[in-house]
Amino acid sequence: MKVLAFAATSSRHSINKAIVTHATQVLAQEIVPGADIDLIDLNDFEMPIYSIDRENDTGIPALAQQFFDKIGAADAVIISYAEHNGSYTAAYKNIFDWASRINAKVFQGKPMLIMSASPGPGGASNVLKAATDSAPHFGADLKANFSVGPFAQRFDAEQGKFSDVLLADTLRDALRALQSSAADKAEG
Ligand SMILES: Cc1cc2nc3c(=O)[nH]c(=O)nc-3n(C[C@H](O)[C@H](O)[C@H](O)COP(=O)(O)O)c2cc1C
Repeated sequence: MKVLAFAATSSRHSINKAIVTHATQVLAQEIVPGADIDLIDLNDFEMPIYSIDRENDTGIPALAQQFFDKIGAADAVIISYAEHNGSYTAAYKNIFDWASRINAKVFQGKPMLIMSASPGPGGASNVLKAATDSAPHFGADLKANFSVGPFAQRFDAEQGKFSDVLLADTLRDALRALQSSAADKAEG
């Protein structure tokens, strides 16, 4: 099982990167031993800000195609969203906008787990709702979604895992659902 995973942020000290990293470790250690994890950093996909004029003048950047192809090559996708001013980070939205010009079904029917976290009590639930509500439109086969809530209270940064037992169970259930859907799709 090949899994594409990333935090939807450009922060080098991202709390969502810590979460998505933990999720991939649980997947590869407990749910699908030997899973092939492609954990990418959105900084490697930085492009000029999308504009229709730029697209008409110079076309879609190769990095947008690479990002789109990484989704296409995966059996499942895991994202943890950071929230900026109630919505997506500019870094993620720019990559997404470029990729959507290749095909509006950016997620290409892949089974997905999406999460979110913030330092505050909201847990980035606004951006999680936006991503959840729009998932069918963008071709996401959403298998599970949850907010981690206030990061420091739910995540043990030293050990790199959830400190909250219920959350740890929620993650394992979500990863099992992801695995099961990916296996079904592989069987055709
Ligand atoms: C420009 C900006 C806007 C933010 N807006 C929100 C917000 O609307 N809601 C929220 O919960 N946190 C907000 N935050 C705090 C982020 O949740 C926090 O920086 C978090 O660490 C981002 O996730 P990351 O570390 O994975 O990048 C904002 C931070 C910045 C820099």
